[in-house]
Amino acid sequence: MKVKIHDLEFEKMIPFEHIEQRTAELGQTISKEYQNSTPIFVGVLNGCFMFTADLLKQVNLPCEVAFMKLSSYRGGLESTRSIREDLDLSVDIQGRHVVLVEDIVDTGNTLRYMVDKLNALNPASIKVCALLYKPEAMEHDIPELQYVGFEIENKFVVGYGLDYKELGRNLKDIYQLVK
Ligand code: PRP
Repeated sequence: MKVKIHDLEFEKMIPFEHIEQRTAELGQTISKEYQNSTPIFVGVLNGCFMFTADLLKQVNLPCEVAFMKLSSYRGGLESTRSIREDLDLSVDIQGRHVVLVEDIVDTGNTLRYMVDKLNALNPASIKVCALLYKPEAMEHDIPELQYVGFEIENKFVVGYGLDYKELGRNLKDIYQLVK
């Protein structure tokens, strides 16, 4: 099935059923690894909103959730180098176990920025859970990236929270650009 968003056409790549199944596995793994602690999940808005909601439903632990808002694409297809901070973290993470939640890690610039920023606040630990990861596009070594839903090709994707010029975030499945 294809969808048109603005001027571009996208085809279905990951159906929601697969996202759901993989998210349940990630939730189980995280629940085991954080047994006996109360982690804070920190979502990076906007793209993370659907994944964060579905992931937390699969986490069987006492846990907190907070959000930050950063942006790097500014509506285009390519990641930009500059990161704009739109909303800061409102909780104290000192001494806490933090799980950063991302919809996608592309160049890794956003994640590098986030991990450095949060590390400066002296958490007990930081690990990252990303639904999508593009190994070919990655420009950084980020060992905190411990939980990955799907490794994907270096293609532009939308849906399930991800946008093209702000549209497409409401699509239930994930779609890739048709060349
Ligand atoms: C996307 C995505 C990640 C980042 C990944 O956010 O949600 O945060 O880009 O790209 P990178 O690894 O190259 O830094 P975007 O800036 O599009 O903002 P959004 O979440 O509001 O869509």
